Amino acid sequence: MTGAQYVRPTTRAQLILSESIIGIALIGAGYWGPNLLRNFQQNGDFDVRYLCDLDEARAKKVLGGYSTIPVSVSVDAVLSDPAVRAVAVATPPDTHLPVVAAALKAGKHVLVEKPLAANLQDGRELVRLAESSGLILMVDHTFCYTPVVRRLRSLVRDGELGDFRYVDSVRVSLGLVRPDVDVLWDLAPHDIAIVDSVCPGYARPVAVAAHGADPLGLGRACMAYLSLRLSNGGMAHAHVSWLSPTKIRTVTVGGAKRTAIWNDLDPQQRLAVHDQGIEIQDAQQPRPLYRTGDTVYHALPEKEALRSVTEEFARAIRSGLPALTDGRSGLRVLATLEAARQSMEADGAFVPLEFDKQMQAVTP
Ligand SMILES: NC(=O)c1ccc[n+]([C@@H]2O[C@H](COP(=O)([O-])OP(=O)(O)OC[C@H]3O[C@@H](n4cnc5c(N)ncnc54)[C@H](O)[C@@H]3O)[C@@H](O)[C@H]2O)c1
Repeated sequence: MTGAQYVRPTTRAQLILSESIIGIALIGAGYWGPNLLRNFQQNGDFDVRYLCDLDEARAKKVLGGYSTIPVSVSVDAVLSDPAVRAVAVATPPDTHLPVVAAALKAGKHVLVEKPLAANLQDGRELVRLAESSGLILMVDHTFCYTPVVRRLRSLVRDGELGDFRYVDSVRVSLGLVRPDVDVLWDLAPHDIAIVDSVCPGYARPVAVAAHGADPLGLGRACMAYLSLRLSNGGMAHAHVSWLSPTKIRTVTVGGAKRTAIWNDLDPQQRLAVHDQGIEIQDAQQPRPLYRTGDTVYHALPEKEALRSVTEEFARAIRSGLPALTDGRSGLRVLATLEAARQSMEADGAFVPLEFDKQMQAVTP
């Protein structure tokens, strides 16, 4: 690590704390919690001290008959154990405010599932609590930790794609219809976090429009289209749906020179970079010129994103420096979702989006 990234512990007590294994409790043993459990168990930086869920039988079933990890139904009991230095929260979004706030007030570092909270105001309170007490608050925006998003980010930043133009994401399948949130709040946090991670500084979202439909009559959108207007005149778009019998997971990132296409369902050719496109050489006489070049398939390591999530959480706790997807990035995602909600209420009109001081990335 370079000196700029690493804050060297100054006292012996700090050194022991930074080197020691981190006791962690997992809260929420439903659909996603077991994935976190497996990855924290496989990461030697952590010692899983509890699996906590209101549904005791569910938590016991997740652990199986041979585990020595205790099950608890009480968040308060888990948080009162000093051996627990960190918690990972995989409960429904409307519980994130009380559960995460209690953990931060008890002095624990927190990894919370996306979205950070059920609304922007709750998210702000959690970021304020974490920052005022010097604790790590990290959001599991899982896709930001995939090798492919990391590669896309460097392709954009290194100028490989040329001037940044657009992101176009499709995330549809016959999905798990959630009882608590609409499809936008369920699936689009992934796309918004990917846009947040990949777009360069000169192409930030400045306005949001969203359209949704509820053909099942559930009272919340089951399919939705999200458009972000970017500050450089480009755009980012996401199509999310629980209703598609065909599963599609593609993200296209277009630049002036090349276009990258990520097909997450094709492990052989997951990321293709096409040296093909349309150019206008004379702005006075705009005539499209078609350029056809090679397509390069990138070799990427096969690594589970959640493994990298746990590694990033450990790094942030040990160094005291914010995680890649810290609370502030969680707030940017929430601000975008709230603007999308307002847009849907306004029949899809564009709603301005501004990231205020509390949402700006911390530069160490
Ligand atoms: N990162 C991803 O790709 C991804 C994927 C799926 C879900 N998620 C997120 O994970 C979170 C959980 O989703 P899920 O699908 O696992 O939900 P779920 O309903 O399947 O499970 C939630 C569990 O939390 C427990 N619970 C609720 N309130 C609790 C409390 N106060 N204390 C202790 N336990 C409590 C419930 O009993 C349940 O077992 C959501 O925020 C969701 O958006 C993330």
